[in-house]
Amino acid sequence: MKKMLSMILAVACLMMALGTFPAMAEEQTVINLFYGTDSTGALQQIIDAFEAAYPQYKVNWIEAPASQDTSHDMLVTSLAAGESVYDVFSCNVIWPAEFSQAGYCLAIDRFLEQDDFDLDDFSQGYVDAYTFQGKMWGLPWYGNVGMLYYRTDIIDTPPTTWDELIEMAQAHAGEGGTKTGFVLQAAQYEGLVCNALEFIGSYGGTVVDGDGNITINNDGVRKALTKMKEIVDSGIVPENFNSFMENECTNMFLAGEAIFMRNWPGTYASAVDPEMSQVSENVGVAVLPAGDAGSAATLGGWGWMINRNTEHPEAAWEFIKFVAGPEGQKINAIVASQPPTYMPLYDDPEVLAANPHFANMRESLEAAFTRPVSPIYTALSEIMQINISNVLLGQATVDEAVVAMEEQMNAKLAEYNQ
Ligand code: GLC
Repeated sequence: MKKMLSMILAVACLMMALGTFPAMAEEQTVINLFYGTDSTGALQQIIDAFEAAYPQYKVNWIEAPASQDTSHDMLVTSLAAGESVYDVFSCNVIWPAEFSQAGYCLAIDRFLEQDDFDLDDFSQGYVDAYTFQGKMWGLPWYGNVGMLYYRTDIIDTPPTTWDELIEMAQAHAGEGGTKTGFVLQAAQYEGLVCNALEFIGSYGGTVVDGDGNITINNDGVRKALTKMKEIVDSGIVPENFNSFMENECTNMFLAGEAIFMRNWPGTYASAVDPEMSQVSENVGVAVLPAGDAGSAATLGGWGWMINRNTEHPEAAWEFIKFVAGPEGQKINAIVASQPPTYMPLYDDPEVLAANPHFANMRESLEAAFTRPVSPIYTALSEIMQINISNVLLGQATVDEAVVAMEEQMNAKLAEYNQ
């Protein structure tokens, strides 16, 4: 027995010495990653593929909260304290100005150069979104644009205007087991601003001009907020509409309880999955309804950044290059229906088979309404969140809210420019 044991030990030692046990012989570098939940499993698949291709790395996924505002604040608290808890993190398309200005993330230009990483095939708009003051601060991952989901067993032709949406939701109330007409993101958080900007865009309103001046006190904004208020008062939204973020909307639509839903493209994968959705056979998608100035959709999206204080910059780069590169984006497009920012994937038959509506996605992303690019975007957004909520909850009139937003945004800007 003893003899056998020592023989096994000797063989094991020999194998190690010869490097036949690479994982044991070599220490793995752990890459700590901060990202929200993903019910589709796409990110886990990407991580698995990455770990298989780079056995020297191990990814430790630390789950971020579902509300992007809460994850923003968690990240900022850690990054501002100079911590290196997260090596890489996903970054909303509206954060690069703030994060790079505050010194939270690493410029990736030297890595791009060192690897000859070609950005020509990425969406220029998203490359621009991660560029600030001449440097690149992250890699774009997926694009996002607001769209309308509807039940094809109840609605033949989707509404083309907000008024039509209200009429249809009222006319078909309760059909097909539904409990509500329309779900949208109306809780007091960034998603509300995204939804409101779609109304604002569709009524020709603006919030900030190209020079950064606040232009929010205009008729388009007044019409947009009036229409939003009409919608929440028309009986077509759930009573607790002001607690709805993306997940609450998705859950209700997938349970077969809503006729219409405003959401991002990523909901599609679960909506058509019979294991996750009661309505997998009856999902229609369309552009958002129009106001008197056409239809508008807000541009969203996420990329990947490297913590400026990471102890493993090279490993972090290898990871973001993989997750946001062609292979990672393809998995994300097929499994999670997330629109690629690596544009050749829009000609990929497997991506199109999983997402027939991606045929028009390239144009939608190009036409989308962008949120103001500013290091104080989060503060400006918070002002909109509070005042728009006040309108929807009947605590302020549209006129009062518009004047308040103008004053508060100008004050914030003045404070920042001091
Ligand atoms: C989506 C968008 C993001 C937006 C957020 C609002 O995640 O991609 O840009 O800020 O929704 O909830």
